[in-house]
Amino acid sequence: MPGIDTSTKEKEFHTDIPQKSECFFLKGSNSLDWGMKNRLGRIFNPVSGKTVMLAIDHGYFQGPTTGLERIDVNILPMEPYADTLMCTRGVLRSIIPPETQKPIVLRVSGGTSILKELSNENLAVDIEDAIRLNVCAMAVQVFIGGEHERQSIINMTNMVDIGTRYGIPTMAVTAVGKDMARDVKYFRLATRICAELGAHYIKSYYVPEGFETITASCPVPIVIAGGKKQPELDALEMAYQATQQGAAGVDMGRNIFQAGSPIAMIQAVRAVVHEGETSKKAFELYNELLNKKS
Ligand code: R5P
Repeated sequence: MPGIDTSTKEKEFHTDIPQKSECFFLKGSNSLDWGMKNRLGRIFNPVSGKTVMLAIDHGYFQGPTTGLERIDVNILPMEPYADTLMCTRGVLRSIIPPETQKPIVLRVSGGTSILKELSNENLAVDIEDAIRLNVCAMAVQVFIGGEHERQSIINMTNMVDIGTRYGIPTMAVTAVGKDMARDVKYFRLATRICAELGAHYIKSYYVPEGFETITASCPVPIVIAGGKKQPELDALEMAYQATQQGAAGVDMGRNIFQAGSPIAMIQAVRAVVHEGETSKKAFELYNELLNKKS
């Protein structure tokens, strides 16, 4: 028990300074509760309003993906440069040091492999375990137009409901079926559906034509996945265009961990996302870091 306040110092109530009531920095997130905002404020940098999430969850449906064969060897050295790690609970518990100060976005949907129909997912993590793991958000795959569209949407809305009880945001991951067009119309549809149904932020893909209409018509933040490996300069240009056109950052995997130098690449991506550097400048940085290493 603290003793009674015996200080002789005069109390100062600063009656001339009105208490500030500021808007939360993240698009569409102002009406969320404190815990949600706090978690989102760890994922997204409150100064730049953006994030560089390092996506390393690919193994949950495709096994030891190139670059992720040994997460302890290849990925952990990049941890200091990522704003957030996106991974499965298996990798989190077995490989990621619990001392990490990085926010974790936990993959919580699953149940299929590349050998079967991918849209046939369920929720594959209990909320209690997500809480136990102290995660900052949960990621659920949503297959708009896919064979199991309804089931995947309900997975997402269930997670939004459960997560809301405990202040944990849900990121909807828009997954495109093999035979579907990855065009602006599709991503406007998919991202808007996810946002309307309660996703707190959304992972989508960049499209060269009209991407700004996807971010404009989606009321919550969008981060872009990197997709298949491209030459480093092209991947940096994609990140540049996406962030200039309203994306709140990237959730990038293969274009970072399959790069010639993943450590140099993640730093170059950071320069684009947080400092608004052009792809050309960021590529110069990539080469500089590469040369320093060798
Ligand atoms: C894929 O299902 C995973 O959710 C990945 O996290 C996502 O595709 C982002 O990784 P990449 O940049 O390699 O596309």
